[in-house]
Amino acid sequence: MIVYPSESRPNDIYKLMIGSITPRPIALVSSVSEAGIFNLAPYSFFTGVSANPPAIGFSPLITQKDKTRDSRNNIEETKEFGVNIVSENLVDRMNVASSDVPPEVDEFPLSQLTPKRASIISCPLVKESRINMECRLIEIVEVSNKLLGGAFIIGEVVCFHIDDEVIDNFKIDPNKLDTVGRMGGSSYTRTRDRFELARPDIKKN
Ligand SMILES: Cc1cc2nc3c(=O)[nH]c(=O)nc-3n(C[C@H](O)[C@H](O)[C@H](O)COP(=O)(O)O)c2cc1C
Repeated sequence: MIVYPSESRPNDIYKLMIGSITPRPIALVSSVSEAGIFNLAPYSFFTGVSANPPAIGFSPLITQKDKTRDSRNNIEETKEFGVNIVSENLVDRMNVASSDVPPEVDEFPLSQLTPKRASIISCPLVKESRINMECRLIEIVEVSNKLLGGAFIIGEVVCFHIDDEVIDNFKIDPNKLDTVGRMGGSSYTRTRDRFELARPDIKKN
């Protein structure tokens, strides 16, 4: 089957994307509005972008209901956000944080997660996450203003908070971190079935 996006329905292409790009890591993004209202929402169009300086990116999409997301609005206002890593013990609460609620609703109490003070930025982090990243906005790359289009929000990580239990000499123990990934639809995957594969050692002439 060959699919040309230009001849397809956006929703079908969306299904192709979320079914193909798997598993996707989940950023539980914390932010605060200029008025001081906390916000929390998961984003799985999420990736690392650079390690020096450390930078991450995620994409809020435009939906039928939301032209812009609260997370994006807050980040545009304050230029800061937190990325909180989702371990399996947090999936239910992360899912509640994805509820479509008005901007004046703080998803922290709604999802029974606890705001934790950041070291450098002014927005809250998620206390229950084993890893938090304090981010300062670098750039919002506008990709499309159509339905299911979106933007790529890039932030520099100015501080990492890592639970001592999951780290040894800068190496994260994946068993202890126990992250989950997002698949297509409402399906998720665990990260416990892993294998090692060394990079090929091919000498260049
Ligand atoms: C696991 C998971 C991943 C999600 N990933 C995205 C995403 O990458 N982009 C997006 O626009 N919405 C995504 N959503 C939906 C948003 O979390 C949801 O629309 C939320 O209400 C947005 O909140 P906000 O308006 O407070 O930013 C995801 C939901 C879940 C449960």
